[in-house]
Amino acid sequence: MEASAPAKVILFGEHAVVYGEPAIAVALNLRTTVEVYPGSEYTVNGYPMQDKYHSYIRNAIKLCWDNGPLEIITQSDIPSSSGMGSSASITVAMIAALLSSKGAVNEEDVAKLGFEVEYITQGRASPIDTSTVTHGKGILVDKTLRENYLWEIEKNGVVWRIHHIEVPELKLVVGFSGIRASTAEMVARVRRFYQWNSFARDVVKEIGKLTLSAIEPLESEDYEKIGELMDKNNKLLTILGVNHPVLKKMLEIARKHSYGAKITGAGGGGSIVALTDEQDEVVKALNSAGFEAYKVRISREGFRVENQN
Ligand code: MEV
Repeated sequence: MEASAPAKVILFGEHAVVYGEPAIAVALNLRTTVEVYPGSEYTVNGYPMQDKYHSYIRNAIKLCWDNGPLEIITQSDIPSSSGMGSSASITVAMIAALLSSKGAVNEEDVAKLGFEVEYITQGRASPIDTSTVTHGKGILVDKTLRENYLWEIEKNGVVWRIHHIEVPELKLVVGFSGIRASTAEMVARVRRFYQWNSFARDVVKEIGKLTLSAIEPLESEDYEKIGELMDKNNKLLTILGVNHPVLKKMLEIARKHSYGAKITGAGGGGSIVALTDEQDEVVKALNSAGFEAYKVRISREGFRVENQN
C-alpha cells in the first residue's frame, strides 16, 4: 500500500481553534509519502519500529490494522516541528495507506482517525491540522454550521465543524526559525493563561472574529486586506504569549516584501507565513538572515492513495 498527504499552514485562528473559535488553514504542495509492505517484523525505514521515534505510525497501526507485521518506508518534504503539520501529514498518509487495503477510503474516516491518532499521541487540541491535510485546498473550522460543510469532530465538549472554503492561488512563503517547539507545551501554556485570565479569553474571541472577517477578502482576493488581518492576528497571538524574538525578527524581514505576515501553528518557535507578490525576494531575505524559507503553493489535493494491491 502507498499513500501520501500534504503539509498545511494555518492562515488564521491557531490556538483560538482549541476553544472552538473559527480558524482557516490551507494545504501546501510539500508532501509525505508512506509505503507499506508485509514484513517479518515491524520496521520503519529499515529500523525496528520504536514508540519513541515512530509514535504516530504506531498509533495509526493500533487504530487501523489488525493483520501481520509491516515494513514501512516514509519520505517527507516537510521539516519536523516546523508548524507545517509534519506529524498530521505522516499520520494521514499512514492511515490512508492502511485503510486502502480494505477498499475505498473516504475523507471523513481518514480525518476522524487522524485526529484520534494525534490525540492519543500528543493530546492534540483541535482537528485543524489532520482535517486540512486530509481534504487539501482550504478549510474553515467553526462551531456554527455553514455552507460547504464536510464533517464534524467532537472531543471533551468542544465541537469542530469542518467546512471547505474557496481560497485563491495565494503566493505564500513559509520561513522556518529552526527552533523546534513542542505544540503540546505551547497549547498548555495558552490554556493556563486562558483559564486564569479573562483578558486572554477576550483575545481568543477576538481572534475568532478576525478569522471570520477574513472569509470575504479571501473570496474576493483582496490581498491587502488579507495581509492586514494576518498582521493583526499576529499581534493577538503575541498577547497570548506564543511569539518568540527570532520569529519577530523573521516577521520584520518578511514584511518588507509582503502584504502581511504572522507566526503559524503553535508558535514558540516553528515558522512564520507571509503573503507576498515577491516570493523570491522574501525567500532570499530570510535565507540571507540564516533562515530556511519555502516558496509554497496551495495543494488542491489532500491525501492520495498512490498504489493499492
Ligand atoms: C497547531 O498547528 C495549531 C494549534 O491551534 C493546536 C491545535 O489546534 O491542535 C496551536
